[in-house]
Amino acid sequence: MEHDIVIHSGQIATADFLFDGDIAIKDGRIVAVAETIAGGERRIDAGGRIVMPGGIEAHAHIAQESAAGVMTADDYLSGSISAAFGGNSSFIPFAAQHRGQSIDHVLETYDARAARSVIDYSYHLIVSDPTEEVLRDQLPRAFERGVTSFKVFMTYDLLNLGDAGMLDILTVARAHGAMTMVHCENDAMVKWMNRQLAAQGLVAPKYHAISRPALAEAEAINRAVQLAKLADAPLFVVHVSTPEGAEIVRREKYGGAKLYAETCPQYLALTRNDLDRPGMEGAKFICSPPVRDTETQSALWHHVRMGTFESVSSDHAPYRADDSGKFGAGRDAPYPKIANGMPGIAMRLPYLFSQGVVGGRIRLEDFVALTSTNAARTFGCTKKGRIAPGMDADIAIWNPETRWTATLADQHDNMDYTPFEGMEITGRPEIVMNRGEVVVEHGALKAAEGQGRFFGRAPVDLRARPGVALSEFDPARNFGVGLR
Ligand code: URP
Ligand code: ZN
Ligand code: ZN
Repeated sequence: MEHDIVIHSGQIATADFLFDGDIAIKDGRIVAVAETIAGGERRIDAGGRIVMPGGIEAHAHIAQESAAGVMTADDYLSGSISAAFGGNSSFIPFAAQHRGQSIDHVLETYDARAARSVIDYSYHLIVSDPTEEVLRDQLPRAFERGVTSFKVFMTYDLLNLGDAGMLDILTVARAHGAMTMVHCENDAMVKWMNRQLAAQGLVAPKYHAISRPALAEAEAINRAVQLAKLADAPLFVVHVSTPEGAEIVRREKYGGAKLYAETCPQYLALTRNDLDRPGMEGAKFICSPPVRDTETQSALWHHVRMGTFESVSSDHAPYRADDSGKFGAGRDAPYPKIANGMPGIAMRLPYLFSQGVVGGRIRLEDFVALTSTNAARTFGCTKKGRIAPGMDADIAIWNPETRWTATLADQHDNMDYTPFEGMEITGRPEIVMNRGEVVVEHGALKAAEGQGRFFGRAPVDLRARPGVALSEFDPARNFGVGLR
């Protein structure tokens, strides 16, 4: 059997170990990994390069309307191209249910949108309207087709499920082995802060940073985790932005809760001073939860190193700095009316590689785990995120020494700014493959529109975390009552 591609002489990086060797690819799959492999219709010399699983971007908003009705600047074509230039072989954007919509309708809509993708994709749902029918029939149907995760919100009027709603949906998720992702901010605290600031006329972008205190995140993370423990449901805390929140995650995760979490590069790279740039420039840096300060950055790096987070995800939420995005409510809109979110899908891996691996903060193995393998494990991507026979040939070949300066033109997205503008980066993906097809090679796009395919995902492996034994659910200590 002639291999389609042999990648030879590279340093192969996995989440567990590094070794020098070759990889053979046939029909889109890795078929052999060995010290040396002969032949190959195409032989790619990876001498001096790192060969690793392509990134799996597990938090991105693509062709998605916000609850306020603002459409992201990236569709599945520009979003997937940008992801690929940033070293990703696949991604899992959100398919958002708005109130009144059925989950079946949402998935049909996103299937049509995602057909343009140049890399493989799956979806996490966003559930904002968990009616009885949604909980009983529609969500289980989505899980059945491999959409085994969904996000819920503890804030925003059009999204917030409330504690009782969270418990109901966590119970359904537990029964089906689905992952509940949660946006944790205490809604009342945020609204109270907004009123305090508005009363004093403090509505410039920089005040966004203080309108959503660390306490609001920590309180909500703690509450979400306790709710999930009551239901014994797996929970994934998205975009953790504070040491207080990370500390709760660490404690509860190692206490046995079925708990997972991520942080994002913006919380490692940016501070509230970026929201204080002249004029309305600061609006570009508005996201929720907000970017914080340099002490927070150091503390979050500590948690990245300690294994508190499964992943570092981009939370790519591309709203242009014009009327189509950030300023839909006007050029001088007060911060609560400026669209939340910033782009970063092409910068997630380069930033983390440069600051993390080259900067000596994390090992290359950790980088692979944080950007690919852990997302595959957490979200049931059974054929992706690993270099091993039988896996999809989703592979990125990096030059670890390339030095470059981040700029908008490198992003290949549909945005008019990058929050990483001007940052010095070392290391860059040169070749990115998806199922053995070269998507990006030395700065050129090689894939055609629509080349990406949907991939269904397995349920959460509930054995991966023990859970916590609550006495209320032990019949021997609970008058023989069987609950849950
Ligand atoms: O501000 C942000 N992060 N926007 C994207 C939506 C979300 O909450 O993840
Ligand atoms: Zn969120
Ligand atoms: Zn997000």
